[in-house]
Amino acid sequence: MSRIIGIVSGKGGVGKTVTTANLGAAMSRYFDKRVIAVDTNLTTPHLGIQLGMYPFDVSLNDVLKSSKTIEEALYEHNSSGMKAVLSSLILGDIAGVRVDTIRKNIEELTEYADIILLDSAPGLGKEGLITLKSCNELIIIVNPNIPSVTDAFKLIKLAKQMGKNIIGIVVNRVGESKYELKPKEIEKIAQIPVIATIPEDKNVPKSIAKKSPVVLMNNNSPASKGFLTLCEEILGEGYYPPKQDIFSRLLEFFRNGFWKFRR
Ligand SMILES: Nc1ncnc2c1ncn2[C@@H]1O[C@H](COP(=O)(O)OP(=O)(O)OP(=O)(O)O)[C@@H](O)[C@H]1O
Ligand SMILES: [Mg+2]
Repeated sequence: MSRIIGIVSGKGGVGKTVTTANLGAAMSRYFDKRVIAVDTNLTTPHLGIQLGMYPFDVSLNDVLKSSKTIEEALYEHNSSGMKAVLSSLILGDIAGVRVDTIRKNIEELTEYADIILLDSAPGLGKEGLITLKSCNELIIIVNPNIPSVTDAFKLIKLAKQMGKNIIGIVVNRVGESKYELKPKEIEKIAQIPVIATIPEDKNVPKSIAKKSPVVLMNNNSPASKGFLTLCEEILGEGYYPPKQDIFSRLLEFFRNGFWKFRR
């Protein structure tokens, strides 16, 4: 039975899509899991853009209009091996979509995956609720500031009322501002454990510009290390290639030459 994990947030723009793309790619490439990422952000979908998977023929919108099956909307991400079901970028394609069929459709994917990740729309509106209703487990993404954590608190309350299993909070973009909440302060407000912190890392916008998850572009970057540790936390296992200590990195540096580190 596959795990259906919603990647959600109270506030928008905190890093849900970046997290989904990187967890999906890392779990597939380094943890050898069968992963399907589903873009459940129907109005402002970005997962396909971040994975470099546009254009494609069959979207989640087609599936939710019953004109295609979810199997027909399943595409492989070449560089990681993960699969993805993506939403349409065309505004008019939202017309006629029946969101009440989404859970049933996602359940059909369980035979093809160990892990299904749902990249949510933000907030507690109708669209954010699609993911809450469709998943069994949740990861809450926050930035280390009061508005983001306050909005997450509301979401957590609702998720608890719905009986969802909350895996924990991921604090993304740590180190961006001088006035940040510390993980302990976030745990105190949200009443949920912080399971990972992902640093602010210029490699992330660079990887988005290159349309490839940062864990594939540079698995030693600060954010990549955070995402790989988060995978370990979620899956309860280590990964290949194993984390490099400073001595093996130095050894690799002298073996491979400086230029490889500059890519
Ligand atoms: N760890 C990070 N370091 C640096 N920049 C980051 C990091 N995480 C996210 N970003 C930046 O934040 C932007 C928004 O991230 P993302 O699209 O994942 O947010 P989101 O929560 O999915 O947004 P939405 O609510 O609109 O769906 C990215 O385009 C990227 O530039
Ligand atoms: Mg997003």
